[in-house]
Amino acid sequence: MYILGIETSCDETGCSIVEDGRIIHSNVIASSLKDHAKYGGVIPEIASRRQLEFINIVVQESLSQAGLRWTDIDAFSVTSHPGLIGSLLVGISFAQGLSLALNKPLILIDHIKAHLYANFLTFKGQKQEIPDLPCIGLVVSGGHSNIYQIKDFKNFKLLGQSRDDAVGEAFDKVAKILELGYPGGPLIDKLAKQSKGQRIPLKCAAFPDSFDFSFSGIKTAVLYYLKAHSHDPDFNKADLAFSFQESIIEVITRKTIDACLKTKNKAIVIGGGVAANSCLRHHLTEEAKTRGIKVFFPPMILCTDNAAMVAGLAYYFKSDRVTE
Ligand code: KG4
Ligand code: ZN
Repeated sequence: MYILGIETSCDETGCSIVEDGRIIHSNVIASSLKDHAKYGGVIPEIASRRQLEFINIVVQESLSQAGLRWTDIDAFSVTSHPGLIGSLLVGISFAQGLSLALNKPLILIDHIKAHLYANFLTFKGQKQEIPDLPCIGLVVSGGHSNIYQIKDFKNFKLLGQSRDDAVGEAFDKVAKILELGYPGGPLIDKLAKQSKGQRIPLKCAAFPDSFDFSFSGIKTAVLYYLKAHSHDPDFNKADLAFSFQESIIEVITRKTIDACLKTKNKAIVIGGGVAANSCLRHHLTEEAKTRGIKVFFPPMILCTDNAAMVAGLAYYFKSDRVTE
């Protein structure tokens, strides 16, 4: 079964064709990221206009790269929520049009759960270890920081979430405070590597006995530290980036491992843009290994927004079609 998926929840326009929920035949992504950089964040109006410009080209390219024809497609899927309303509208309208014109079902997909599903995909011709279910899922993106127990692909139990900023949002805001640019996550990741490990005491709220997070306070702590110390002779911006990143990654690692141990799961799957963070990849993998837990990160291209995750997850909802 070939499902053509469309993703337009934010500033990426994606289209992908996935066979039987597993094998990626094409994965095309266009992005308006550069248009937002000078504003230090995504401008919804610009994002939705770019979606409109890209969508047709991206969908045609995806079909052509897969070497398939419209008649080969068995169903369509699209991200229905959460996301920027104008951007979502472009993808949903386009997918609805395809579904009606070709008389094939349309399946609506939750973007957050799709991020976790990226761990269960394989590119055509490649081999990849697929995690066993049930497992723990950690979504760390620009909009969400959630821990789930995934019993099966229709059964995600929310165990914890951020009570304020999402982790990617905190990275982006701190990068703005440090005048690094946008998007901030990769820039902080890179700058932190220049630190010799001089730790500045910065803490995230702990919320004992809960798997919830808070990333807003530490962002303010970075701002106050910078105001008080930026003229000190030994001030080093890299140490501040390093300390912020370490504190955030420590709390994410600890809570995710605790959730896994408490629910007696043996594997953790990660999704979302912050899954590209080198410190998270290292810490979580090392900490999990000592406890006999396996950790799965999607390949980099499937960490950030893409449509393969939307086409893949839709396979499990193929009977829940929305055609009207
Ligand atoms: O999942 P995503 O592409 O879009 C959303 O659905 O939000 O995630 C984007 C977020 C941005 O906040 C970006 O700064 C962050 O992922 N990000 C990173 C890294 N690469 C991207 N954060 C930390 N370290 C990275 N290497
Ligand atoms: Zn996303």
